[in-house]
Amino acid sequence: MLRMPDLPFLRPKKQPLIGLDITSSAVKLLELHPQGNGMKVASYGVAPIEVGAVSDRRIKDYKSVARSIQRVVERTKPSTLNAAIAVPTGVVITRTLVLPRHLDDDEMEARVLQEADQHIPYPLNEVAVDFERQPPVNPDDESQPVLLVACRKETTNQLDQLLLDAGLKPSVIDVENFATERALRLIVSQLPGYHPGHIVAVADIGANVTTLDVLKDGKIIYSRDQIFGGKQLTDEIQRYYGLSREEAGLAKKRGNLPADYISEILEPFKKAAVQQIQRQLQLFYSSSAHHEIDYLILAGGSSAIEGLQQLANHQIGAPSAVANPFSNMAISDKVKAAALAQDAPAMMIACGLAMRGMT
Ligand SMILES: Nc1ncnc2c1ncn2[C@@H]1O[C@H](COP(=O)(O)OP(=O)(O)OP(=O)(O)O)[C@@H](O)[C@H]1O
Ligand SMILES: [Mg+2]
Repeated sequence: MLRMPDLPFLRPKKQPLIGLDITSSAVKLLELHPQGNGMKVASYGVAPIEVGAVSDRRIKDYKSVARSIQRVVERTKPSTLNAAIAVPTGVVITRTLVLPRHLDDDEMEARVLQEADQHIPYPLNEVAVDFERQPPVNPDDESQPVLLVACRKETTNQLDQLLLDAGLKPSVIDVENFATERALRLIVSQLPGYHPGHIVAVADIGANVTTLDVLKDGKIIYSRDQIFGGKQLTDEIQRYYGLSREEAGLAKKRGNLPADYISEILEPFKKAAVQQIQRQLQLFYSSSAHHEIDYLILAGGSSAIEGLQQLANHQIGAPSAVANPFSNMAISDKVKAAALAQDAPAMMIACGLAMRGMT
């Protein structure tokens, strides 16, 4: 559990909170509550991000994003204003330290800060530092790996301010990769025949970006972005049928387009999407000791496209599934279950963030 000890606004204790994922196309809000041994979706909502307000995983227009957050909060009415948000994986520095296992949390924190000075190329007063104990390699080792995570305070302060401007309380700043790992644990545990050591590739096809993450033993061991996503399909529909962007986006989801849509636009897009994944897998193989994957998970809003999973399955050969982090969760009456089911594959990071309130 990340604690970021030198960020005063972080409270290490578990508390109800909402996970907020801010992407190039949307703000996604999710609140989870404990329910028996499992979890319940207590609230969920999505609001669009203005074009250009977020690009290359960076917030370009904070005011506009704050308005989108306010909109989703007003609409969703979560039971808490405490929020967890993620920084992109690329802006953090992580190092694995090996430190004595018997240290209590305060002693560990002091040691980590001492060590951080040597590992981080910025003055310590400009970075937010956090750590997470990892399981010892052998059960009776006297030392244990400790994951050091550091991020420039400028970045965390900006997110902090963004949440405050949107009327929320900044509670947890996480890292995108960690949130994804947490949500993927829910998915992986349901894969038929899964066992530790298996290689799970996750292709997240969003609006603008397709990310290939490769997961082994619960950790992301490889991650690359490509500029490819559902926006290309929307653009093509818009151009071919002379529709507005909104009309094209809606028609894509509803499927009420002329008969030639499937052969002229949808099928070529599906082929292109699968080719993207194949290319990204080749890059993974060439940069690692692995030559195959055991499972392919499709995630992101565009993975909902009918027949895409079957095509990927056929072309790539690994058993595949579309991610649904909520398949074993209860759902509050207040949540629109059908909409949640549609958006589920696009809610992985929001889900991983919301889980911070539970673990
Ligand atoms: N049912 C559907 N059928 C086809 N496409 C869909 C469907 N639902 C969502 N999409 C598309 O999925 C895309 C959004 O996916 P997602 O929410 O994963 O992206 P994002 O995370 O917001 O963006 P990015 O990761 O690119 O920054 C949009 O292009 C949207 O049109
Ligand atoms: Mg995305």
